[in-house]
Amino acid sequence: MERMSLMNKVIMSASNISVRFGGLWAVKDVNMEVETNQVHGVMGPNGAGKSTFLNVLSGLQQPSNGYLKISNQKIVKGKPWKMTELGLSRSFQTVRLLPEMSVLENVLVGGHLYASKNPLNILLRTKKYRNTEKVLTEKACDLLRMMGIEAKADQKITGLSLQERRRVEIARSLMTEPRILLLDEPCAGLNPHETDKIAQMILTIKSRGISVILVEHNVRMILSISDKILVLDHGRKIAEGSPTDITKDEGVIKAYLGGAAHA
Ligand SMILES: Nc1ncnc2c1ncn2[C@@H]1O[C@H](COP(=O)(O)OP(=O)(O)OP(=O)(O)O)[C@@H](O)[C@H]1O
Ligand SMILES: [Mg+2]
Repeated sequence: MERMSLMNKVIMSASNISVRFGGLWAVKDVNMEVETNQVHGVMGPNGAGKSTFLNVLSGLQQPSNGYLKISNQKIVKGKPWKMTELGLSRSFQTVRLLPEMSVLENVLVGGHLYASKNPLNILLRTKKYRNTEKVLTEKACDLLRMMGIEAKADQKITGLSLQERRRVEIARSLMTEPRILLLDEPCAGLNPHETDKIAQMILTIKSRGISVILVEHNVRMILSISDKILVLDHGRKIAEGSPTDITKDEGVIKAYLGGAAHA
């Protein structure tokens, strides 16, 4: 595989992020730097705060403390649409597609929400809109090809397997041309073979110059494709480093074995 010779640049940073739900700190003082050309893994036992942290990064959850910076711009109140404009896109832990619509239509929704800033263009079906439509359709088909699901472009979501739905979701997230893609457990419920395929696709996404932040319970998978890993436990960062560093870290081993012992 080709490696870029350019130095990786920090494109987003999270500083001292904390989220409090009543008496519980779901996330506490977490720092993270997202770099270009990297897969950033986020690991941790159930309830560690991974999804909450991702919600903060994507503007769905306001932090109780701390702030985000994208390309050196400080984000005071990061609303989801604003984060999308700044180059962030995400998929969810549970699949959120429109079941009665086709695969292609679902992917197009991701592009429409973003491209149609002037809704009049759509209502009047102007030439500009028709051109946009053509460009978006080509883009959607390209992404479906990349996710290996172009053969099902015209099928309804209801007829798709879980792994196919997850691929469609990822294709849809890519329609906004993000610089950073956030994935919350893209392999939940998938078998090892399906998991490996998604892992390959994440590497393809990275090779297109998109940084990926990946939350995943499948330890083997996350260790195999992440460049850098952040480990959370009870809302706090307990380790950060390369996959090799993480597997040797005593705190991480304890958090996981402790979790397993109670499972
Ligand atoms: N909206 C909410 N209101 C109150 N508590 C919440 C809320 N969302 C999450 N929590 C709590 O915050 C903690 C962190 O939850 P979170 O979903 O971020 O963990 P997680 O690491 O994603 O877990 P999992 O691996 O199970 O997906 C948990 O104790 C959870 O119960
Ligand atoms: Mg979660």
